[in-house]
Amino acid sequence: MGRASGDPRLAAVSNVLAVTDGRSLDAVVAANAHSVDERDRALVAELSYGVCRWYRRLDALIGGLLQRPFKARDRDLHMLLLVGAYQLLHSRVPGHAAVSTAVDACRLLGKGWASKLVNGVLRRLQREQAQLEADVDRVPAVRYAQPDWLYEQIVSGWPAQAATILQALQQRPPMVLRVDTARIARADYLAGLAQHGIVARAHATVDSAVVLDRAVAVEQLPDFDRGLVSVQDAGAQLAAAWLDLQPGQCVLDACAAPGGKTLAILQRATGLDVTALDIDAERLQRVAQNLARAEVHADLVVADAALPPAEGWGAGNYARILVDAPCSATGVMRRHPDIRLLRRASDVEALVARQAAILDALWPLLAPRGRLLYVTCSLLPAENARQIDAFVERHADALVAELPIGPGLRAGKGVQLLPGVDDTDGFFYAALIKGASNNA
Ligand SMILES: C[S@@+](CC[C@H](N)C(=O)[O-])C[C@H]1O[C@@H](n2cnc3c(N)ncnc32)[C@H](O)[C@@H]1O
Repeated sequence: MGRASGDPRLAAVSNVLAVTDGRSLDAVVAANAHSVDERDRALVAELSYGVCRWYRRLDALIGGLLQRPFKARDRDLHMLLLVGAYQLLHSRVPGHAAVSTAVDACRLLGKGWASKLVNGVLRRLQREQAQLEADVDRVPAVRYAQPDWLYEQIVSGWPAQAATILQALQQRPPMVLRVDTARIARADYLAGLAQHGIVARAHATVDSAVVLDRAVAVEQLPDFDRGLVSVQDAGAQLAAAWLDLQPGQCVLDACAAPGGKTLAILQRATGLDVTALDIDAERLQRVAQNLARAEVHADLVVADAALPPAEGWGAGNYARILVDAPCSATGVMRRHPDIRLLRRASDVEALVARQAAILDALWPLLAPRGRLLYVTCSLLPAENARQIDAFVERHADALVAELPIGPGLRAGKGVQLLPGVDDTDGFFYAALIKGASNNA
């Protein structure tokens, strides 16, 4: 595609093309932000995230209207049609404006020859929308814009809840804050938000969480710069609560970056000795930034959690270990709609093996009667209930601690939160206590 013209639709085209080439949407949106005027950045983000969220369905609609696919060098035109279709179907932009801006964008691309084609395809979509949508929606995975393998795994993992989950994954998630309730009562923070004209409410089941009516820039949040409040999904906030932290404990946060849960841990109890570890040095820098904002400290270590040194990291004998494991991220597709384009079925197998290796390697570092909390943002039983079943099979000294269900459902030995239910993303939690080994 030609160099950025400053046109927001073309910026979105470029972002989505990068995702289809395997890059993360968050990363490309951030990297390309400078290519458009500041006033257009929200529109570029809305179009880029929206097209990824609906990619498969938009692709099916547009594919059905093209006599033949575009050549590889004209994939930008295909994406431009997807952006146009997204605006027609999912935005309040008047139809004629969605079509004419897409047509104009052909010229900006230096491909004026395609104007007539783009105009014809989008106008036909406008005219025959109901019938065309009914046609593509006959395939449920297309209706929910999921790849077949993921659709099938969600349906087989959650037969009774699948429709709710799949619908929720197509929604935009709310912005949710975690209030440092050790420093300010949630009700007082809500009152402060109201004074700033920010409409928000207390989360029904997670006592540190505040749900905003509309997303705002963090700079607008009172006392954000002092770490009194952080942006964190309500489901993710349960990690610090369910670790059952006691003052002065040694804690290992084994997959810590970017540090949302590390900060929540440090703000949950006093005098904690926290080691925050991540395999990715660059991401670990974000943990440092997060902690600095709130003026709290953890020892930061770049390492592979599956390969601990014999003496452990830092403190050594941990009373608490948090394993917020690398996973398919299928539970957070509302926030990261590119997951459906980036993940392959084969990734899940590799992730399950990596999670098992991390759990096995860290278990010896847990103190007797210590608690390990396993968390994923996945909906797939292989990474969740089945992973924990297999772990308990392998480790006779692993006892399962019952978690309060909170906003979730029982799932094997743990709890599953479903996306969109009770304003949370889709997380799985299981808590294991180190007891006496049956083999001892
Ligand atoms: C789900 S994210 C963690 C999110 C973080 N706990 C938070 O709340 O902000 C998983 C993290 O695991 C890290 N990771 C992946 N494999 C790892 C390994 N073998 N050892 C340590 N960290 C790993 C990734 O770099 C990623 O930052």
